[in-house]
Amino acid sequence: MQKLKTSRRIKEVIASPIRKFLPLVKKVEQQGVKVIKLNIGDPDILPPKDFIQVLQQIKLTDFYYAPSSGVNKYLLAWIKYFDNFKIKITAENIVPTMGASEAIIFVLQAVCDIDDEVLVFEPFYTNYKALSQTCGVKLAPITLKMEDGYKLPNIKKIEQKISKKTKAIIIINPDNPTGKVWRKDEVATIIKIALKYNLFIIADETYREIIFQGKPICFLRNQRIKNNLIVIDSVSKRFSVPGIRMGVVISYNKEIIKAILKLAMARLAVSTVGQLATAKIITQSKKYIKIIIQEYKVRVEVLNKGLNKIDGIETCRAQGAFYQVVKLPVENSEDFIKFLITKFRYKNKTLLLAPMSDFYITPGLGKNEVRVALVTNIKELKEGMEILKRALAEFKG
Ligand SMILES: Cc1ncc(COP(=O)(O)O)c(C=O)c1O
Repeated sequence: MQKLKTSRRIKEVIASPIRKFLPLVKKVEQQGVKVIKLNIGDPDILPPKDFIQVLQQIKLTDFYYAPSSGVNKYLLAWIKYFDNFKIKITAENIVPTMGASEAIIFVLQAVCDIDDEVLVFEPFYTNYKALSQTCGVKLAPITLKMEDGYKLPNIKKIEQKISKKTKAIIIINPDNPTGKVWRKDEVATIIKIALKYNLFIIADETYREIIFQGKPICFLRNQRIKNNLIVIDSVSKRFSVPGIRMGVVISYNKEIIKAILKLAMARLAVSTVGQLATAKIITQSKKYIKIIIQEYKVRVEVLNKGLNKIDGIETCRAQGAFYQVVKLPVENSEDFIKFLITKFRYKNKTLLLAPMSDFYITPGLGKNEVRVALVTNIKELKEGMEILKRALAEFKG
């Protein structure tokens, strides 16, 4: 008889480095240890007040299946949101998704056949790895280096990675995990390459407005790439509501929208309540986003002041989003994180960070790096830096 076993495909899929230590953490928390969690991009900042008001007005009749193409209010909210940036989109350009995560799966499936390739700049948001593995898509990495401020490499280095199987190039702006905000000239280079090789540009703009200087770059503004462009967006981070699980795919390319809509129909719809509840906050983004940017700016300052006091640390200050990569004076950051959880205590507290290896494709890269997510208040962040300093000294000793 045939043995019961899981698929070969799933064996290749990595467990999220952001979440994999949580069972271990739960255990020590049950023993009364306080763990300061700087691993997951789950903002502690409360969402806009209006969000709860709309939720309280939800009626018993609001639990019908929404159309796969979305509830009008939700679509209109995105149209209005982009109008603020002087970008014109219509309902035909949008497909609602369950967060940016589902948007990523849909886009990869719509664009790629099995074994097709997509260019990514490493380090990149690690879940692209698992999601592309489940879609049978290969990620071809272009390495960005911390010591160069994660700047785009020479155009030739990028072109070397393009093969007959390359279908798209992913750009996350502002970037998770590096906190990089892509410069105009870098974006222009990416567009030039995409047009030259006729590649789709998958622009993940989940953190669009969370930047500490200047104005956000919206790929949708660029008319020359109308056919190539697929934008992934989400309310998770900019409105601090990751648990509502709402996002969108936006494209001017009718074939892409048709393809994504087929996938959307197969899984029926996204939450009707989620669409109704987020519609209002999306249209009122300006005021709220100003507030959170101010808060994240202060946190970046506190983080870097704290890091400056620790010997042997290398880092590149975040310009946007709410993450920063830190090179630690250890051989293996994963071992250090395990040490933090299982052994190290300071005033009965410890710290959780995300190891960086799986934010890269190239083996060996990021081994001594961690990602810090600025998702706790200033007091905890300061405590976190104190713990990091003391734990490193003890770990090395
Ligand atoms: C760059 C990027 N894209 C997508 C996602 C997924 O977000 P969502 O909560 O909307 O699924 C994240 C979450 O951290 C992210 O950082």
